[in-house]
Amino acid sequence: MRVLFIGDVVGSPGRDMVTEYLPKLKSKFQPSVTIINGENAAAGKGITEKIYRKFLEQGAQAVTLGNHAWDKKEIFDFIDHADYLVRPANFPEGTPGKGLTFVKTPKAEIAVINLQGRTFLSPNDDPFRKIDELIEEAKKRTPIIFLDFHAEATSEKQAMGWYVDGRVSVNVGTHTHIQTADERILPKGTAYISDVGMTGPYDGILGMEREAVMKRFLTNLPVRFEVPKEGRTQLSGFLVDIDDRSGQATSVKRIQINDDRPFFE
Ligand SMILES: [Fe+2]
Repeated sequence: MRVLFIGDVVGSPGRDMVTEYLPKLKSKFQPSVTIINGENAAAGKGITEKIYRKFLEQGAQAVTLGNHAWDKKEIFDFIDHADYLVRPANFPEGTPGKGLTFVKTPKAEIAVINLQGRTFLSPNDDPFRKIDELIEEAKKRTPIIFLDFHAEATSEKQAMGWYVDGRVSVNVGTHTHIQTADERILPKGTAYISDVGMTGPYDGILGMEREAVMKRFLTNLPVRFEVPKEGRTQLSGFLVDIDDRSGQATSVKRIQINDDRPFFE
């Protein structure tokens, strides 16, 4: 099985990149499953039902979230019916939605899990204890497990990677919006990258208007961060091949599309 993951889609610039390049990526790489992190897809914070549905129509099979999961209030109206939308599984018991879903392909089934880190983020349940439970649950159906660990600290992300090595097929990091160059297959077969990076504005700061972010640094005054309406854009992704029987990764590839790294069909 080949899995394509697209990192944190930010606002309409990010969504436009998905519209433009997802078909091209699909025809070039022929992934069996495409997963998108959509927690910043609606104006930089949260997701709407329309956007979630559009990602599925465009050829994604699952959408993951993170700390901005609840920022668009309408999510509470649809998350419980959105079969392929996962929010961090270690949110408190009783939280709407779910943290694990399954996607069937003609050849195999993949479990898709979302978890959130606790370092420099809200104190949710322990993601390490939680992943043990979820792996056990997922393995009853399939050896192929995909984990999007939405976390701030690289140390926590690396700790998760080593913790799940050999037990999940893919562990991508998301949230920090800058792609790391540490992609590898860990010794027991887990494909790992600390952060896939962001899909959206290329000349902003983490996808937001750079003037506002600079003003915050220069003045410490409260500033509203917005997604730039125009300007150059980028796409960040990760491609993994997995052995269907063992669930182990066999190859990994980072994807970056921007004006400095143009896409070749
Ligand atoms: Fe985030």
